[in-house]
Amino acid sequence: MASTSAVRRLTLTDFRNYAHLRVELSRPLVALAGANGAGKTNLLEAVSLLVPGRGLRGVEFPALARQGGSGQWAVAATIETPDGEREVGTGWRPNDDGEAASTRAVMIDGLQQKSAGSLADILRMVWLTPAMDRLFQGPPGDRRRFLDRMVVLFDAGHASRVNAFEKLMRERNALLAEPNPDGAWLSSLEVQMAESAVAVSAARLAAISTLARHVAQSEHHGPFPWAALSITGAMEDLVMQHPAVEAEDIYRRDLARGRSADRAAGRALAGPHRSDLHVVHGPKAMPAEFCSTGEQKALLIGLILAQARAAKSLFGASPMLLLDEIAAHLDPARREALFRLLETLGSQVFMTGTEASLFDGAGASAVVYLVDGGQLSESR
Ligand SMILES: Nc1ncnc2c1ncn2[C@@H]1O[C@H](COP(=O)(O)OP(=O)(O)O)[C@@H](O)[C@H]1O
Ligand SMILES: [Mg+2]
Repeated sequence: MASTSAVRRLTLTDFRNYAHLRVELSRPLVALAGANGAGKTNLLEAVSLLVPGRGLRGVEFPALARQGGSGQWAVAATIETPDGEREVGTGWRPNDDGEAASTRAVMIDGLQQKSAGSLADILRMVWLTPAMDRLFQGPPGDRRRFLDRMVVLFDAGHASRVNAFEKLMRERNALLAEPNPDGAWLSSLEVQMAESAVAVSAARLAAISTLARHVAQSEHHGPFPWAALSITGAMEDLVMQHPAVEAEDIYRRDLARGRSADRAAGRALAGPHRSDLHVVHGPKAMPAEFCSTGEQKALLIGLILAQARAAKSLFGASPMLLLDEIAAHLDPARREALFRLLETLGSQVFMTGTEASLFDGAGASAVVYLVDGGQLSESR
């Protein structure tokens, strides 16, 4: 991906509250304005399914099918990329026996893909949603997922790494729950878990330093502060202190020794799935969780922008940004500053807000749509 990619045509079929929507997009900033419940976040969610994963709400695929619709859903997009236009389609429908399928289908240029993973070759994406307002106070799992998404931004292979570890861990949990687990099978799972755990933690540490390097080289001014990130986790400590093979060996032995404790707990008590991301408000040298609500929001925006800029300097193009309810808590001057920063990124940005006027400062690079009743209409 030498240069930026953008969605030029988007079609939703029976997706959430959209029976059928087709929209052509040409400008870099796409603003969606509409009342609560109009379907703004649903549209961002549809776009977020153009990359691997379960989308920005992280829900199960059946929930995305429109109530009162066909029971299936589909999202299709024409994506302009440096290699020309790519046709991407994804969707879900119940199995023939009526049971809920847990995976979605993905087509790229008319070819059925083995998994959603191949979408990673087409688009990179970062999002910020109101649910993330509690990121610094909420459970570590949310911060870990935020961290892993950032890693994926810099290193697309990270998603499959994390999945592989989680799959192995689930297998081991299930095996430990059996009355007489097969020791050789356990050992083999633990060897593989150790390999993937070290790979996961090493990639996280690499991403954190990529971001830190980028932040150190950037100028800092404007309303969105820089953040200092670190990972609190025994697995990352291990990877920092030992060469990879040794770290694998240590964790593998810990797993073997921890079998009875893990069996009693019903889960693995140690591993990269226990790590946490710690964020510090750079200019104030203040842990993010101690910052005011407004400071936290500004810090998050700063962090998302820094990720986008770091990815841009790595790959020559900024990722696509999905910024849900971004305008709500910013005064007009900050909104204006944000729009200018987004313009300089040069990538496509989807933003939402309750009023079209919130996007007045976005200028000619923006198109503003009114969202109502599952339809879009251009506001200017
Ligand atoms: N599977 C679904 N089928 C039909 N409507 C849905 C589905 N899921 C959510 N909705 C509706 O979508 C609306 C919420 O849309 P959303 O995009 O979150 O609104 P907002 O514009 O406030 O971001 C609600 O009215 C909700 O009932
Ligand atoms: Mg919303």
